[in-house]
Amino acid sequence: MIEPPVRPLAAALPDPAEDAARLRGLLCGRHLVLVGLMGAGKTSVGRRLAQRLGLSFIDSDHAIEESANMSIPDFFALRGEAEFRAGEKRVIARLLNEPQQVIATGGGAYMDGETRKRVREKAVSLWLKAELPILLRRVQKRQDRPLLANGDAEATLKALMDKRYPVYAEADVVVASLDQPHDVMVEAALTALLAFLEPGADA
Ligand code: S3P
Repeated sequence: MIEPPVRPLAAALPDPAEDAARLRGLLCGRHLVLVGLMGAGKTSVGRRLAQRLGLSFIDSDHAIEESANMSIPDFFALRGEAEFRAGEKRVIARLLNEPQQVIATGGGAYMDGETRKRVREKAVSLWLKAELPILLRRVQKRQDRPLLANGDAEATLKALMDKRYPVYAEADVVVASLDQPHDVMVEAALTALLAFLEPGADA
């Protein structure tokens, strides 16, 4: 009897390095922009996603802190939210003009219509969508978010979800932010981005 050729197992499994290389090719130089509420995991997932793709990573809040030479809470306290939003918009416009990178945006940045337009022109956007209990648990670990500094964090987050989720939904790709290891989230993001950029490839 003739045995069928044995297919090497490695050939049957998805190759993570190949996925990353394919995604980079499909991005054609566009940035990857992460949007979502505070606690969604934009920074932790974005940083690891950048590593996987061999791209640099920048968090827009850090870029603002660097150019203003003060922390986000100090910025809000000394200059107010309106000025923060203007600075955030300028900084994101600048980051989008830099060479290709993965950009994690502050939770309010994508609410600005001009920022959304710039992101559409120069990037593929990914919304990390999290449910309230997950967000609440995560934001309670840090005290540096001015919007949550006073009052009821749960009620504030709920109100922000109602207002922002319909706008975040304009992002190209949505990935559920779950209580999973970061690497699992990165794979989910990679898979969703590939499905968006090469629809029908699995067929
Ligand atoms: C904000 C989110 C924060 C930061 C600022 C305002 C918001 O960023 O930009 O505190 O309006 O949702 P993270 O989403 O990275 O926490």
